[in-house]
Amino acid sequence: MSAPNKSYDPVEVEAVKPDEVARHRADALAAIAAATSLDELHQVKIAVTGDRAPLALANREIGALPPAARAEAGKRIGEARGAVKTALAERQEALEADRDARVLVEEAVDVTLPWDRAPRGARHPLTTIQERIADIFVAMGYQVVDGPEVEAEWYNFDALNFPPDHPVRDLQDTFFVAGKSTGEGQDAAGSGMVLRTHTSPVQARTLLEQGAPVYAVSPGRTYRTDELDATHTPVFSQIEGLAVDEGLTMGDLKGTLDHWANAMFGDGVVTRLRPHFFPFTEPSAEVDLQCFVCKGASVGDPDNPCRTCGSEGWIEWGGCGMVNPRVLVACGVDPERYSGFAFGMGLERSLMFLNNVQDMRDMIEGDVRFTLPFGMEI
Ligand code: PHE
Repeated sequence: MSAPNKSYDPVEVEAVKPDEVARHRADALAAIAAATSLDELHQVKIAVTGDRAPLALANREIGALPPAARAEAGKRIGEARGAVKTALAERQEALEADRDARVLVEEAVDVTLPWDRAPRGARHPLTTIQERIADIFVAMGYQVVDGPEVEAEWYNFDALNFPPDHPVRDLQDTFFVAGKSTGEGQDAAGSGMVLRTHTSPVQARTLLEQGAPVYAVSPGRTYRTDELDATHTPVFSQIEGLAVDEGLTMGDLKGTLDHWANAMFGDGVVTRLRPHFFPFTEPSAEVDLQCFVCKGASVGDPDNPCRTCGSEGWIEWGGCGMVNPRVLVACGVDPERYSGFAFGMGLERSLMFLNNVQDMRDMIEGDVRFTLPFGMEI
């Protein structure tokens, strides 16, 4: 700003000359009229009323005029600024009205449209995988059988050749219903009931009900006293298979498992049996599945690690074996005439490596966001 100067000639002060003020006023009004959106108008407002706006600068120069000239210049500039302010307010109002009208049209909600108030749920992937497996066996002539989850100790253990002092009967692993028999006092007998620790008791039930020959699979829920974490759950699911007929051998068992592996995991995927022990099968084996992703190619090749099998080439899948003749006898089947095989797999485990599910807890929390991506299989 220039310093006050009594002998100052107002004509010399460029910014407050009538022509200049009129031009700035006209420019500002034109810019305001040209703004087509509220954002644009905001920018124009800063340009025409901000500290560096021409009329604001002119206003500041008034003080530099001789006193006689100040009133006239002040009035002119004041009027110009007032006109700009009014034009801004009017344009603002007009653009807001435009926007409101547009929003009403663009964001209109048709409240008469039907709305799916109860979104459809989804099938749990465990159910889907269970049915897929059962279907493979049904196609081979197996029936699907069922057994109770609250099971008699006799079916869960005794009929399956678990000795009375077998460690798995211990409270560590088994949920006993209303107390394990202690052999003493009022609990001497216990309830005799457990939450089944595997689906194998259905083998005994099926043999007792139907006799031989029989081909059956039994998927279902099982229980063990594990803590819930990413790889353990006290409630899990298995599928049991049982075939009892004349002349069945371990070759039939292996062929059946390989067929299942092919049907589920792709052509050419084989299984491998490793010697193991189960009281109800003899001989017994653990079943490994050839890694259906790398087919073993990742083994010893650090450049191509496989997430599915951890570069092992094989995935632990379940247990199997030839039905122990003692089980056949306990279930009224003549072991001289019949032989059989059985197998059992964990469904959660299968789902984990089949679909790369990292955390078992996802399977039991019941969140439809986990379930939906698996889609529907009919
Ligand atoms: N029941 C066994 C388990 O839960 C699995 C199995 C089933 C083993 C049938 C052999 C035959 O570990």
